[in-house]
This record gives sequence, C-alpha cells and structure tokens, in this order.
Amino acid sequence: MDIILRTQHLKKHFGSVRAVEDVSFSVRRGEIFGFLGPNGAGKTTTISMILGLTYPTAGTVEMLGERVTPGHTGVLCRVGTLVGAPALMLSYSARRNLEALARLYPDVTAARIDEMLEQMDLKAAAHRSVKTFSTGMKMRLGLALALLNRPELLILDEPTNGMDPAGMHEIRTLLRSLADQGTTILLSSHLLHEVEQTCDRVTVIQRGNIIAQGIVKELLSSENVVRVRTSMLEQSAQALKDLAEATDIRTEPEYVEVRGVSSEQVLTFLVARGLAPREVFVSRPDLESIFLELTQKTA
Ligand SMILES: Nc1ncnc2c1ncn2[C@@H]1O[C@H](COP(=O)(O)OP(=O)(O)OP(=O)(O)O)[C@@H](O)[C@H]1O
Ligand SMILES: [Mg+2]
Repeated sequence: MDIILRTQHLKKHFGSVRAVEDVSFSVRRGEIFGFLGPNGAGKTTTISMILGLTYPTAGTVEMLGERVTPGHTGVLCRVGTLVGAPALMLSYSARRNLEALARLYPDVTAARIDEMLEQMDLKAAAHRSVKTFSTGMKMRLGLALALLNRPELLILDEPTNGMDPAGMHEIRTLLRSLADQGTTILLSSHLLHEVEQTCDRVTVIQRGNIIAQGIVKELLSSENVVRVRTSMLEQSAQALKDLAEATDIRTEPEYVEVRGVSSEQVLTFLVARGLAPREVFVSRPDLESIFLELTQKTA
C-alpha cells in the first residue's frame, strides 16, 4: 500500500490550550481522506503542522517519503494546499492570478492555465476582476491555483465553508473527478454529509484526539439498526437475546430495535422461532447521527 502522508502522535499545545493531543493517521495514494471534527477540534492546527507552518509540540509528519518540519518543507512543491480563504489578488483577473503563480513553476505553460480555467468552469470569467467573483468562484480559482503545478496530494481545509448547497455540490463533484484522475486528497470538514458524500475513508477528531477512523461505508453500515414490527414485541425482544452478535435490543411501542446483525439474520431467526414479524426494516443512520453519538459519548 502506498502511503502518501503519515502523521504519528502529533501534538500541539499553545500554553495551556491543548489544541491537538494525539493524532495519527495515514493517507493512501488515490483516496479522498476525510478529516472530520466539530469546531475547535484541532483540524486546522493539525493541517498547519502537516504543512510545516507550526512546530508540533510532539509527533512527526511524513509526506511523499520525506519528514516535514518548519525548517524542511521542500516536499510542499509537490503538494497543493487551500487552507482558509484562498489568497487571491482581488484587482487582478482570474487568468492573471494564475499567470502570476505560474511564473514560480518552470513546467506550467499557458496551455495548463487554460486547462485549469476550463476544469474549474472559470473560462467565461477568466478576464474579470476577481473582486467581482462569488464565494464559489473564488474557491474554484483557489483550487485552480492549488492544482496548477499538478500536485500529487491536495490538502484542503474546509473548502466549502461559506458556500451555498449548489456551490458545495460543484466542489464535491470537482474533487471526485480530481481523485478519479489520480490526485490524492485530504479534506477537512466539520460537515458530516460532505465527508459522507465525498470521502473514501475518514478520521474523526474531537478535542485533539481521534475518536473514530475507518472506511466511510463501513462506519455507516456497522451501525445499522434493524427494526422489527410485530404483534409479539416482548416475545421477539426476549428471543433476540439468543441471537449471537445481536446487541442493544430495545423495545419501542411500535417495534423492537436491534443492532449488530443484518435484517436477513433477524428475519430468519424470528421465523424459525415461530415469531414471524409483520415487517423487518433497516434504519440506516447517516454519519451525522453516528458522529453525534461518538462526540457525545466522549464529551
Ligand atoms: N495560535 C493559537 N493560540 C492559542 N490557541 C489556539 C491557536 N490556534 C488554535 N488554538 C486553539 O486550538 C483549538 C483547535 O483549533 P483549530 O483551529 O485547530 O480547530 P478546528 O478543528 O480547525 O476548528 P474549526 O472547525 O472551527 O476551524 C481551539 O481551541 C483553538 O482555540
Ligand atoms: Mg479550522
């Protein structure tokens, strides 16, 4: 497996403020990795350490095979970043912003600038002054700047902050197509549905510590709740205690709820016990409720 970024036991204290306590994760080549946490969880601080902008109190960052420290950031020329609002020259056009940055890169041609304007849907606005741009357009230009040098890894800190749903959708679609073309992406967000819809794997942090980590699909399916509608609520709940792996059996007025097992297992089991239910259905919580549950458990 090709690990493109690895943080090990990153910690950052600002005096008595424990911004980051212990953050270790690995990003694999080609994936969109979600870095999820509520406001103040330590996402931006972690990203600052990854980018060598802040000294860690402890821990290490390895990116594209090199150790990154504030004195050693050479590898960043292979990384595209967008942290906070994009740094744009507002009185310049989109094209001039790109041209100004292109001067720093020997390999970036005029054709590459055209390609980025096209890909970020800014062709029609290429000659307009950036101060007339909407938030979404500015963010797309920020992405164009971050991607100009064809980075292997793109690090984005809350790229959809302040955007409306249509703008967020556009960015999500763009990120997917970039990943499909081989760019690895680290995406931080406090928005669950954003991570759920965009990312392959996710790390959830709260108060500077990792509280969950995994494949987004598995995190979602591991929390499946099976609900059984039946006229024999008590008997069914009692019987389900014998079903191996069934956990958290709860009787509600309308149904029995059980976790840890599939709807097929529950149905087969109850029918075999002569407790054929009226209906068995899966209530699939979204990452939002899993996240709330996780953050409340550790609060
Ligand atoms: N330079 C600093 N000095 C003191 N405290 C800081 C500093 N930078 C961050 N913090 C604190 O560290 C904690 C983590 O902040 P951070 O900005 O990393 O969180 P975040 O997850 O990015 O939050 P948000 O979603 O609001 O952007 C917060 O309590 C914040 O106030
Ligand atoms: Mg932040």
